[in-house]
Amino acid sequence: MNKFYITTPIYYVNGKPSIGHTYTTVAADALARFHRLKKEDVYFVTGTDENSQKNIQAMEATGESDPEVYLARMAAEWKQTWRDLDISIDDFIRTSEPRHLAGVERFWNAVKETGDIYEGEYEGLYCVGCEAFKATSDLVEDRCPLHPNKELETLKEKNYFFRLTKYREELLKLYEAGNDFVMPESRRHEIRNYVADHLSDISISREKKSVGIGIPVPGDDSQVIYVWFDALINYLTAIGYGTDETKFEHLWPADLHLVGKEIIKFHCALWPAMLMSAAKNDPLLREENGSAKLPKQVFAHGFFTIDGQKISKSLGNAIDPRALVPTYGFDAIRYYLLREIPFGEDGDFSHTRLQERYTADLANTLGNLLNRAVAMSRKYFDGKVPDPFVTQAALPEVSGEWSGKEGLDALAVAVGKAYEHTRVDHALELIWSGADRAHGAGLSQANKYIEDTQPFKLVKENPEAVGRILYALLEACRWYAWLLHPVMPQASKQIFFQIGLNEEKELSERWDEALVWGKLKAGTPLPEPRPLFPRLNEEST
Ligand code: MSP
Repeated sequence: MNKFYITTPIYYVNGKPSIGHTYTTVAADALARFHRLKKEDVYFVTGTDENSQKNIQAMEATGESDPEVYLARMAAEWKQTWRDLDISIDDFIRTSEPRHLAGVERFWNAVKETGDIYEGEYEGLYCVGCEAFKATSDLVEDRCPLHPNKELETLKEKNYFFRLTKYREELLKLYEAGNDFVMPESRRHEIRNYVADHLSDISISREKKSVGIGIPVPGDDSQVIYVWFDALINYLTAIGYGTDETKFEHLWPADLHLVGKEIIKFHCALWPAMLMSAAKNDPLLREENGSAKLPKQVFAHGFFTIDGQKISKSLGNAIDPRALVPTYGFDAIRYYLLREIPFGEDGDFSHTRLQERYTADLANTLGNLLNRAVAMSRKYFDGKVPDPFVTQAALPEVSGEWSGKEGLDALAVAVGKAYEHTRVDHALELIWSGADRAHGAGLSQANKYIEDTQPFKLVKENPEAVGRILYALLEACRWYAWLLHPVMPQASKQIFFQIGLNEEKELSERWDEALVWGKLKAGTPLPEPRPLFPRLNEEST
């Protein structure tokens, strides 16, 4: 059985999850669910990045003084948010957990043994917002462009350094064309230029007395490990590195690290270089031929703004995703986030667009199709799925006929490929329109088929033909429930229910076995239809 190990960044707990963090997590969830439909052995991890000054500053701002209590409360809040949004995580890692500390120590020692850690003095700027050392060339008007309101710290302290530059050539090889280590391609160019022209060794520790939080450097109590060096290792410790070798060997390397575009230097340069270094002295991290086992891909998506503005604590415009659930239900939020912007590009979150998509795409297109197909079948065929084979009666000639079977085959292949390539936005676009317009079988074509064939009129003169039309539409709804499940698990369950199927039974099949035309049985009783996406109440929006 293929395994599929997928991660999100581990988030700082200096605030609650916003719509931005939700974007990454929901996208990862959709991909994890897709791979589960293919019956792969999926492992999906998210978590919290706790050894950070940012967290401590946020704690102090609340008037609290015990980091352990603060971190535990916030981690619980993040975990609960993902539960509330039905995110199907297999594990949630906190970097304050003993299992993480054990792995970090092992990793540090391996890198040290390779000879890639040396003592030095860091003199320069540090942005607590990014938790990153900054060169003057990184600044815009003397400020960090990502955190222009934060004062930069000026540091001069003894630190341990990592020989990042030693790995320049190996990294450049990793980004070569044909190797999809960094996706999308535009990000690959960006990172290649950075590594080729700007790479320098990096400080990987801080003076304990100046940061007040962090994992102690093995063998030197006066220093703590730089938070990014420790945080990246979560991808290993979450699956047993340093604590459960069997599990680790089964799941590593990661199949996909999903991240936002602002943290690609860490994920696409520092992280593989760290692994290349540690692998030289840790057999768990290398292939039989001696090369490092590296993650297969880092996919960097774009950023959401809110009504055109950067999401920021100081602007106070962060939206708690849970606040939207009572109005829209979480499937609509998931759909909107993943559909609204091409995956990889930036985009804007707006309530108006969310409402428009809810009404046009979900209520009017998907919801109506299901409702009409079920209501007509119940009315004309005794509350049951009609039998398409009672007659070979010719279907009415319609312009641009919607050919259910071939069209859906093509659609499922295209949608599968889109999910496979992390293009959830494409998958949704295809489902709503059709794989190939001539024989398209997307939702729009299915609705058009009803308009073109007018079963409600045809039923008097040719009920058998109407039976075939409605069977095709109900069977298509079964396919849509499958295709949409990764993004909209609740709606998918409802669709199955409304066409007389049991979700659990249906999903026990494998994607390619289930997506075969004609599996919906004629005669299946259809329950009373209920709106899949009820109209939005103006007051609530
Ligand atoms: N703790 C680090 C990550 C360590 S991973 C080893 C960190 N945390 S964070 O809390 O700042 O989260 C950043 C991530 O949250 C982004 O990379 C992205 O995945 C997500 N997003 C946060 N705001 C976002 C938007 N406005 N838009 C899209 N994604 C955003 O960095």
